[in-house]
Amino acid sequence: MAGTHILAIDQGTTSTRSLIFDSRAKRVAAAQREFAQLYPEPGWVEHDPEVIWRDTLATAREAIASSGLRAADIAAIGITNQRETTLVWDRRTGETIHRAIVWQDRRTAERCQHLKANGAEPMVRDRTGLLLDPYFSGTKLAWILDHVPGARVRAERGELAFGTIDSFLLWRLTGGKVHATDVTNAARTLLFDIRRGCWDAELCALLDVPMALLPDVHDNAHLYGMTAPDLFDAAIPIAGMAGDQQAALFGQACFTRGSAKSTYGTGCFMLLNTGEEALRSAHRLLTTPAYRLAGRTTYALEGSIFTAGAAVKWLRDGLGVITHASQTHDMATQVPDSHGVYMVPAFVGLGAPHWDPDARASIHGLTFGAGAAHLARAALEAVGYQTLDLIEAMVADGGARPAVMRVDGGMAANDWLGQFLADLLEMPVERPGDLETTARGAAFLAGLAVGLWSDLPELAALWSSARCFTPAMAADRRDVLVAGWHDALRRTLSASH
Ligand code: G3P
Repeated sequence: MAGTHILAIDQGTTSTRSLIFDSRAKRVAAAQREFAQLYPEPGWVEHDPEVIWRDTLATAREAIASSGLRAADIAAIGITNQRETTLVWDRRTGETIHRAIVWQDRRTAERCQHLKANGAEPMVRDRTGLLLDPYFSGTKLAWILDHVPGARVRAERGELAFGTIDSFLLWRLTGGKVHATDVTNAARTLLFDIRRGCWDAELCALLDVPMALLPDVHDNAHLYGMTAPDLFDAAIPIAGMAGDQQAALFGQACFTRGSAKSTYGTGCFMLLNTGEEALRSAHRLLTTPAYRLAGRTTYALEGSIFTAGAAVKWLRDGLGVITHASQTHDMATQVPDSHGVYMVPAFVGLGAPHWDPDARASIHGLTFGAGAAHLARAALEAVGYQTLDLIEAMVADGGARPAVMRVDGGMAANDWLGQFLADLLEMPVERPGDLETTARGAAFLAGLAVGLWSDLPELAALWSSARCFTPAMAADRRDVLVAGWHDALRRTLSASH
């Protein structure tokens, strides 16, 4: 193996980052760019793929330069990404035929409803571990084929390629040589059988997706290809790929059955490692591959909450009651409670365990005594309550109740939230020193593939906790708070739910 460091590319919903890790998994350099969210119509969310590509390359080069290393010192690249976000491009020119349709986009809600009404959901659930919700890639991909003139015919002729962001970046990084994805990203499309580990012809027919569009699917630690000669001073192997939430689970070293993590970014995504068993959820959670190494799949139950940090962003950008997200910490501690205010952040509908695409956000319990601090506190509390709903669904599904919850993502830096989570979940909440666990997970995968690290125990030894929050709230107070949340939630669900 040449090189001593790993470059992790973390292409997220609101920013693109490149980070460099040394052989002790310590972060030695990072570069980041935020990019625009495009909202062409209510409920639609798009990204400009050229901006994503430009930022990826720029941040990768910048991170390498600021670390004082050369491309030849990089043993491998790991890619992790916002999942489900859908792209289609021309195989010959590499040009995309439509902007990326982002995971939050609801434009295919009606199509999903139609498929459900036709009784398709049980089969889809059984094979993919997912539900018929516009969140996933399959209906977005079909929408592009149906709305871009000539696209469907070209797709059938094999001229077009589909990819989630990982696949698109891999294509561009290899100069159009490799069209592939990994098992965790493939599993978010509604087209992939998670137990057989392959694309499913019946699902593709159901969603009207020609199979000629689909990428090859590989393990998460795998030699995917080499960077094109003109991109860096030396060619670098791309050796790890995973969707960002699975990468965070990996970066948090949740390698044993019953271990769990919760990531607080734009949304909140909790994954519980269920070992080699792909548990079928009876509580509308998702069943997903956590990672596949040397052909062996470890599965997870996933709870996906669409809005966490995005609600705080709305307090800042939409309402203007804060100027910086970190202010919510002091505002929440300034007041003894939320003064009966509950925020149900269904800005893009509700994800697990409700799956109500038509619900819209609401604020309950406002009186003249309520002010900005109560609102800020209610936004943070909503993150806690939603996390609790997920844990309860997971345990009811037969997933082992985790002994501890590992947290990460930007919002996990908020101490007040850490304590509130421990109080609500009634379990210790552990926060690692480096909250960039998503990038670290991608680095771990790439490092495993090229032999920088040899196995999971070695990776687990590189993880350490920086802070542990332990439950301290009286049970009766907790119960009253939770009952208030459930009441607010009930009032927010849409009439069609
Ligand atoms: O499923 C969507 C998820 O992967 C997005 O993650 O971190 O970009 O909010 P994030």
